[in-house]
Amino acid sequence: MKIQAAITAVHGYVPDYVLSNEVLETMVDTNSEWIETRTGIKERRILKGKGLGTSDMAVEAINKLLKKKNISPEEIDMIIVGTVTPDHIFPSTSNIICDKLGATNAWGYDISAACSGFLYSLETGKQFIETGKCKKVIVVGADKMSAITDYTDRSTCIIFGDGAGVVLLEPNTEGFGIVDSILRADGSGRKYLFQKGGGSVQPPTMRSVANHEHFVYQEGQAVFKFAVKGMADVSAEIMERNNLSGEEVAWLVPHQANKRIIDATARRMNIGSEKVMLNIQRYGNTTSGTIPLCLWDYEKQMKKGDNIILSAFGGGFTWGAIYLKWAYNTK
Ligand SMILES: CC(C)(COP(=O)(O)OP(=O)(O)OC[C@H]1O[C@@H](n2cnc3c(N)ncnc32)[C@H](O)[C@@H]1OP(=O)(O)O)[C@@H](O)C(=O)NCCC(=O)NCCS
Repeated sequence: MKIQAAITAVHGYVPDYVLSNEVLETMVDTNSEWIETRTGIKERRILKGKGLGTSDMAVEAINKLLKKKNISPEEIDMIIVGTVTPDHIFPSTSNIICDKLGATNAWGYDISAACSGFLYSLETGKQFIETGKCKKVIVVGADKMSAITDYTDRSTCIIFGDGAGVVLLEPNTEGFGIVDSILRADGSGRKYLFQKGGGSVQPPTMRSVANHEHFVYQEGQAVFKFAVKGMADVSAEIMERNNLSGEEVAWLVPHQANKRIIDATARRMNIGSEKVMLNIQRYGNTTSGTIPLCLWDYEKQMKKGDNIILSAFGGGFTWGAIYLKWAYNTK
């Protein structure tokens, strides 16, 4: 009997504060229409409040998920957190989440893969379920991007937002769950999208702060070109090697970085826009959060047995696609 790792619940959390394109117009030299036509984004959420970090958003989402499933925190075996905005350099955000939840039997760690963070984490969680080592793994995609966004840089501050999405992985022996995955990495792309300061190469100094080196640096056009190709290639490849036609795919769940990247991926997969999960207009790019937040938003529309392709591209570069058969219906 083959054990597959199946998503058996999803939940999400986005902060209340809405940062609209119109408000951004008052902060940098931009306009609402440019942002919407070039990216698809209308507004994004920002986590306000002193002392609040990525773990707080994840804990909100996990607590609701546990309540929905009637599971106690002690039953969780493991928590894996995809994030590039951990609460601290150490300890891991997973560690902090376990403490805040009271998940006293869980262990885990953070995975740094930028916008592919959720896919990398899901693939990692899958292994612990498939080997039988764990029965309940929480996979988190969460980022407080506002902490590393330069609100004087119009080319990046229009893109990012804060949010957390979480899923529960459990064993399934009926043919539902994760079927296949392709994960890729090419570190030579780091120069196009990275945060220069704060790590061991460039520890914080007065100068690094003054030079805005603790924020996201991005060469947008270069990233755009790699992202279009990377996301489309890997999505087409996973369909091909699983003999899936566009018609057989029920949903594409793409990383929400730019609507034009998403459209190009859907075209390459030969699937209509009605099958593409989209919430970029409301949340912007929440980095690791985008894919689980989409699953949360569209949970009621997915049906047991649906063929679903998750697909992402991010800093590093990192990218990948995961093919899964949805495991449950939601009333
Ligand atoms: C960032 C991004 C939206 C910029 O869009 P673009 O169409 O590539 O725009 P460009 O960078 O070519 O800039 C075009 C013009 O718009 C201007 N511009 C840039 N940001 C602007 C803004 N916020 N408002 C108005 N104009 C802006 C540029 O200065 C440039 O002007 P110029 O032609 O006079 O020099 C786009 O490149 C992108 O989405 N890249 C990928 C981002 C991504 O996926 N990142 C995460 C990876 S996971």
